[in-house]
Amino acid sequence: MVGLSFWAMSGFLSGMVGDYLLEERLSAERTRLETLAERLAPSLRERDVDALDEGMQDFAGETGSRLLLTDSGGKVQLDTVGIENGRLYPIPQVVSILTEGQGQTYAVRDTETGEELNMSRVLFMGRTGGSWESVCASAVVFDSAVQGVLVLLSPADTIMRSVYQLQDRVLLVFAAVAAAVMVFSFVFSRVVTSPIAGLTRGIKHMSKGDFSSRVKVKGSREMAQLADAFNSMSEKLETLDQSRNQFVSNASHELKTPLATMKIMVESLVYQPDMDKDLRIEFLTDIDNEIDRLSNIVSDLLTLVKMDSRDVKLQRENLSLAELCRETEHRLKPIATKKGQKIILALSDPGEMYADKSKLTQVIYNLVENAVKYTQAGGTIRVSLTRTGHEAHLVVKDNGPGIPRENLPHIFDRFYRVDKARSRETGGTGLGLSIVRQLVMLHGGNIRCESEEGKGSSFIVDIPLHQG
Ligand SMILES: Nc1ncnc2c1ncn2[C@@H]1O[C@H](COP(=O)(O)OP(=O)(O)O)[C@@H](O)[C@H]1O
Ligand SMILES: [Mg+2]
Repeated sequence: MVGLSFWAMSGFLSGMVGDYLLEERLSAERTRLETLAERLAPSLRERDVDALDEGMQDFAGETGSRLLLTDSGGKVQLDTVGIENGRLYPIPQVVSILTEGQGQTYAVRDTETGEELNMSRVLFMGRTGGSWESVCASAVVFDSAVQGVLVLLSPADTIMRSVYQLQDRVLLVFAAVAAAVMVFSFVFSRVVTSPIAGLTRGIKHMSKGDFSSRVKVKGSREMAQLADAFNSMSEKLETLDQSRNQFVSNASHELKTPLATMKIMVESLVYQPDMDKDLRIEFLTDIDNEIDRLSNIVSDLLTLVKMDSRDVKLQRENLSLAELCRETEHRLKPIATKKGQKIILALSDPGEMYADKSKLTQVIYNLVENAVKYTQAGGTIRVSLTRTGHEAHLVVKDNGPGIPRENLPHIFDRFYRVDKARSRETGGTGLGLSIVRQLVMLHGGNIRCESEEGKGSSFIVDIPLHQG
């Protein structure tokens, strides 16, 4: 389109310039011819052939052109090159002066065929190899009548050549501009579309389940933002995908272990029908414990999955966190006492809270249970509650074994246990803390752990009161 319009423009432009050049030239010739026609009129009247001949030859010699003089019938009286003498000269320019009474006519025509120049046709349809000449005709008038026509023929090749030259140059410039425009628009469109193509490829990969694809951040500011957003989305999806796989494999593993233990024991019972009664009871008790473990894991998993589905609703009510701490202490006291541990409550009631009672109970219970579980016999667990601003501040602190620094970042991960063997012994699933964190986050709060190996651990929870 661009090329085509440039070509058309170049045609029009050189046509216009050509017209202008010819016009200039013809108007000059017209004036001179008019003067000559006036000068020759008396000689024509007096039929002074010598004077006519001399005047015309002079003019032709001066201008390097050819002059013809016809009578009022269109017959050539004098031709400076002598070819047309005595013949009729019925070219349109002469005819229209003689029949229509015009004073002057002019044209540019092909020297050979006599065909008149049509600038736009010449320029658009190609060039003829022939040469051009301009025709300028002027009436010779005396006694108020047209007595003859003076015709000036002069070569117009130079003008046409310069018109063609101009056209060539303009075309060349336009072709260059058009090419540049095309190259530029091609490059520009590639620059604009290539990031989009990259994104499309990335999305296609992703839809096939490959979340590792990233796109290069380039292009305009908006494109770069889009690419950035895409990358962070695919990064999140990738981690999500990995953690989901991890979760499934961990869960399967956790479920398989008790099942394997149970299978061995059941098989023993089946293949040793005459087993000692006490041993049989021990086996059955172990199986019962494994079933409890399985059931715990499954219910923990269910809790987690339910919270993941995002449509969990908090059953908020007015409650006293201090009261929940006391209840928890009451429930866990027997186990702690059995281990010779002390649970100390330091509760300065933060006032009423608007929250989910059973979920917060689960939070406190899990934290204190862990403290009791992992602290050695005779240890101390301290549960303190205060209010900071609009938040309840709960700390469960023990003087147990603590958590090694390198494990600290992971203890809220699903299935993560510092000491796998010991934790299983104590019946842990490794899901407790991740559930706790989810529950705290559901309440808009946050939880963190501070611990020093050998000295003890503190779990610090802040939860908005949503009240007063
Ligand atoms: N008070 C604590 N003292 C020492 N280690 C702890 C304490 N609380 C949690 N942990 C460590 O964090 C791990 C994760 O805890 P949790 O998610 O409750 O799983 P578990 O089912 O093993 O109790 C535990 O296995 C334990 O190693
Ligand atoms: Mg636990």
